[in-house]
Amino acid sequence: MRLLLATAAFALLSRCRAIGDTIDLGYAKYRGITNQTLGVTSFFALPYAAPPTGNLRWREPVPIDIGGTCGADPQNATVPGLICPQTIPGWAFELLEQFESIAHEFPSVAAELSDTASTGSEDCLHLDVIVPTSPASSKLPVVVQIHGGGLLDQRLALKWVQKHIAAFGGDPSRVTIWGGSAGGGSVINQMIFLHGGADDSLFSGAIAEFPWMQPYHDTPIVEAQYADLLAAAGCTKLACLRALPSDKLANASQAAYWAGYAAKRYGYGDFYFGPIVDGQVIKALPSQEFKNGHFTKVPLLIDHNVYEGLLFSNLSITQETQIKADLEQAWPGTNKSFYKKLFNLYPAWRFSHTPVDASPVISLLTSLLSLQPAVFHRSRIWEDYVIKCPTYHYAITLSEHGIPVYKMSFEAGTQLHGATTPYLISASDASGNGGAALASQMKKWFLSFVTDGNPNVRSNAFEIFWPTYSRGNRVLNVDLSSAVTVVRDQDATRRCGFFFDNSLLLRN
Ligand SMILES: *[C@@H]1O[C@H](CO)[C@@H](O)[C@H](O)[C@H]1NC(C)=O
Ligand SMILES: *[C@@H]1O[C@H](CO)[C@@H](O)[C@H](O)[C@H]1NC(C)=O
Ligand SMILES: *[C@@H]1O[C@H](CO)[C@@H](O)[C@H](O)[C@H]1NC(C)=O
Ligand SMILES: *[C@@H]1O[C@H](CO)[C@@H](O)[C@H](O)[C@H]1NC(C)=O
Ligand SMILES: *[C@@H]1O[C@H](CO)[C@@H](O)[C@H](O)[C@H]1NC(C)=O
Repeated sequence: MRLLLATAAFALLSRCRAIGDTIDLGYAKYRGITNQTLGVTSFFALPYAAPPTGNLRWREPVPIDIGGTCGADPQNATVPGLICPQTIPGWAFELLEQFESIAHEFPSVAAELSDTASTGSEDCLHLDVIVPTSPASSKLPVVVQIHGGGLLDQRLALKWVQKHIAAFGGDPSRVTIWGGSAGGGSVINQMIFLHGGADDSLFSGAIAEFPWMQPYHDTPIVEAQYADLLAAAGCTKLACLRALPSDKLANASQAAYWAGYAAKRYGYGDFYFGPIVDGQVIKALPSQEFKNGHFTKVPLLIDHNVYEGLLFSNLSITQETQIKADLEQAWPGTNKSFYKKLFNLYPAWRFSHTPVDASPVISLLTSLLSLQPAVFHRSRIWEDYVIKCPTYHYAITLSEHGIPVYKMSFEAGTQLHGATTPYLISASDASGNGGAALASQMKKWFLSFVTDGNPNVRSNAFEIFWPTYSRGNRVLNVDLSSAVTVVRDQDATRRCGFFFDNSLLLRN
């Protein structure tokens, strides 16, 4: 796993001591690398745990920041580390083929697809620490960016931050965790970790972007998944799996992905190897933990995009009747009366056309792949289940506990899963309608939440006040032309009530 730490670099106070590019953490010294243009010093791939290889594979991560210093010479932390090995769900191959057939129209997507072929390394429990070269204060607020991955590893990384971030000029009492997609799901999981807080105070704010809340598979599915992995690896025991070379294990896990999809153990859009209720770390489904008040009580910024479900829906669906079969595979145990209610809430007549007001990218996809209305019907059901309704549920529950929540519905950019990212992360501004101004404003909102716990403090370019959710379920809405308004949450519907009522059955 590789986490990214970034201290907010824009506070306009007096200049203080510039952090050198060598850091002494007591147990190790590291030399970072300064980029004068960006004004940041980066310390890449700092290990926060022993490499989880050999007998440590799949065990609780082992801290390494103990004992004496490793000698006087700093180690180079100047080159980014490798990501963990990746495999992809059985349904994703069809999607990749569909995208390859139109790759000439989407050079950036094509580049990303070829990246998925990169193998990575199991020695990936690393953090990148990025600090301003000329910090505005010696105690800056800290962002810990979390991608999806092992929850115990993330927890140890957060403990490492508590112990060591001060040496980099960070304030351990002001740590915001921030993740999107599976990383947004991880943020939610960190909020309910151990019922939400036996060892809290690891973070003081949370940003969950388009949190991916897929099914937390139950014991029979997880047992079958394990049996598939053993079989694919030619093993009968865990010790044998631990002894496998990394590339053989990656192949076996890809084979288990195939076998599981063929055996209908998980549905289209489900990444299968995800968090489960283990009774120890995650003690109950997120819906239940939030309902019961078992979550870390910190301010939350939460958002989602519009067509969250499209790239996680079978794009070959042409008939309404194919939707039910597809969803039955994703949601074992659903019966006739469930679908009767579901299709009352999502009647086919409401999805009789492909969207006319979607982003240019979605319009292009629709025409290139001849997407049928049924695809958008299925996509809407899946995105409500997996992202949109959970954001409503978390927002309203935290609000009821008096915790500030800021929710955004982001309808600009591609409108697809991940659409906010170019506006928040890239060094260059996102293009499109009013894109550059919006990108600048987005960064202000999010960083203002990080520094002040409130997105409004440092941002006024659009002269819009982003109210907390508690005042009438209000959300900030950014439309396709980058116009910003405050509206009532469009997820506050009977549809989301239905998904919440069925969350034990649908397991999220
Ligand atoms: C510094 O960052 C800029 C912007 O990302 C990049 O173009 C440049 O190559 C970097 N310089 C070095 C020395 O890495
Ligand atoms: C670290 O990098 C410096 C500069 O590139 C190089 O001179 C030195 O040999 C490196 N040290 C190690 C231990 O690799
Ligand atoms: C997608 O749907 C089509 C039509 O129902 C079906 O033939 C195909 O197997 C599905 N693909 C996947 C990956 O489930
Ligand atoms: C993994 O699978 C690929 C593709 O099927 C194959 O070429 C490769 O030899 C396999 N590697 C190992 C270590 O089994
Ligand atoms: C359908 O499932 C629901 C929820 O699990 C259950 O309450 C109901 O009894 C089931 N109906 C039938 C006809 O099996």
